[in-house]
Amino acid sequence: MNGKTCIITGGTSGIGEASAGALAERGAEIALLCRSRSRGEATKKRIEERTGRDCVRLFFADMERLADMRRVAAEMKEALGRIDVLLNNAGVTMLGRSETSDGFETTFAVNHLAPFLLTHELLPTILETPGARIVNVASGAHRFARFDLDDLQSKKNYSSMRVYGASKLSNMLFTTELARRFEGRDIGIWSLHPGAVSTRLGANNGGIAKLILPLLSLVFRTPEQGARTSVYLCSAPRIDAPNGSYFVDERPAKVSALARDPEVARRLWLESERLVGLAEGESWG
Ligand SMILES: NC(=O)c1ccc[n+]([C@@H]2O[C@H](COP(=O)([O-])OP(=O)(O)OC[C@H]3O[C@@H](n4cnc5c(N)ncnc54)[C@H](OP(=O)(O)O)[C@@H]3O)[C@@H](O)[C@H]2O)c1
Repeated sequence: MNGKTCIITGGTSGIGEASAGALAERGAEIALLCRSRSRGEATKKRIEERTGRDCVRLFFADMERLADMRRVAAEMKEALGRIDVLLNNAGVTMLGRSETSDGFETTFAVNHLAPFLLTHELLPTILETPGARIVNVASGAHRFARFDLDDLQSKKNYSSMRVYGASKLSNMLFTTELARRFEGRDIGIWSLHPGAVSTRLGANNGGIAKLILPLLSLVFRTPEQGARTSVYLCSAPRIDAPNGSYFVDERPAKVSALARDPEVARRLWLESERLVGLAEGESWG
């Protein structure tokens, strides 16, 4: 990965930090999108101490805010010059329904709309970088989705697991449609499930999460184990699977019928364009 630049969202914790560390160890230059300055600086210090290289650049944005995504993408394009890998990794799960200041349900906004817009904004530079890759961290939880294109903001019958599942299904539908739109181009586009991993995911949900998460850590994968498929897709010299494939344990895996439904993927894409304020088809190749 010498000379390659990898953008990683959610690189200040869990699977994202483990992925950033492993890619830095393979020689990559790392650009971390972080929401917290102190957490970003602490992560940069840990990775640079581990690798002995000055290889981490920090960019700050709150993925609940679409305006932040536009600003940070412009900053990244200006500062980085090339983008070999975009690892859309950041994610949240919310026990109760909440809305961002933009007025979107928080899980859908952070897990789907933010990476959708970030990818769009970075795409010109990604396409200029030979052999670039877009890797979306989805989840096996896509199978639990209650997916309703007419209720993407989950105003009816909120259930955290089903809403989280729908946001991860959205990552996979995004991957499906992105692969279709960029068929034949020199770009790799895949999604993955990292396994059940002991991280801070859900720790924002207060007391119950604080009780449960330490217990789960006894049986779940470590972040380093959970990062293996992300690191593989970002760095393996060759990936022998078509664009749009979904990976588990470094191998292509089956997805739910809904996740590869081209019509649903197309409709989610058009609706996402509308929600983030892009004109239909605007500069998406
Ligand atoms: N853990 C699992 O078992 C599991 C299973 C399947 C899929 N996944 C997926 O794996 C990915 C990584 O999750 P994880 O388990 O490593 O969770 P994590 O430890 O909670 O890390 C999540 C990362 O996302 C960042 N983030 C959250 N909200 C943000 C916002 N509004 N703006 C900017 N950054 C934000 C966090 O930043 P802070 O450091 O500031 O909090 C953190 O760096 C997620 O997409 C998740 O859905 C996880």
